[in-house]
Amino acid sequence: MTSSTQSNSTKSRSELFQVPCYIYHIDTWKDIKDQYLGDMNWEDPACLTGHYYSDFYKYYAKQRKPPYHSSLMELLKPAIDDFASLQGEHLKIPGSWCQNYASNQMHPVHTHGVVGFSSVFYAQLDPCQKPTSFISPFPDPWSTVHEEKQPDCKEGDLIFFPSQLFHQSLPNKIKSDRIIFSFNVFPWHAQPK
Ligand SMILES: [Fe+2]
Repeated sequence: MTSSTQSNSTKSRSELFQVPCYIYHIDTWKDIKDQYLGDMNWEDPACLTGHYYSDFYKYYAKQRKPPYHSSLMELLKPAIDDFASLQGEHLKIPGSWCQNYASNQMHPVHTHGVVGFSSVFYAQLDPCQKPTSFISPFPDPWSTVHEEKQPDCKEGDLIFFPSQLFHQSLPNKIKSDRIIFSFNVFPWHAQPK
């Protein structure tokens, strides 16, 4: 929009860059949550090597799919398909991982690299717990502060965000575990014939 000022100039304002994110709610999660999470082995020593439960290094880092990968993809398929159509892309999701944050546990600021989009499914998130906290890649021009923001996500929500976006899991302030499933979404490029 262009408008005149009271002097000898005109002004306009526009947005050069934006950071997209997409949030879906999985309606059926509430019906299967207890059994789905009950099938996980939260005592697996291979997943308790860090400061919280994570099967990332057991499966994803070794390019292996966890046992729940197929059922997770099936559960999330309508949302993933809609996201793909919005992007106009064929997607490749090579694996997934699960993280469980007990009381006072957190995950420091990190990115998933420049690979496409990343996604978090909030399998257990108490209303008192915060979802993922995202950090703006752009410092405020006046304060120089990188704004930090939590999207309006609740249990059963699935969020897609650019994989290179800095984010963290803030400390879990209550006794209930905070449980997420996560995966990266790559563009799928057909091999030339
Ligand atoms: Fe992450």
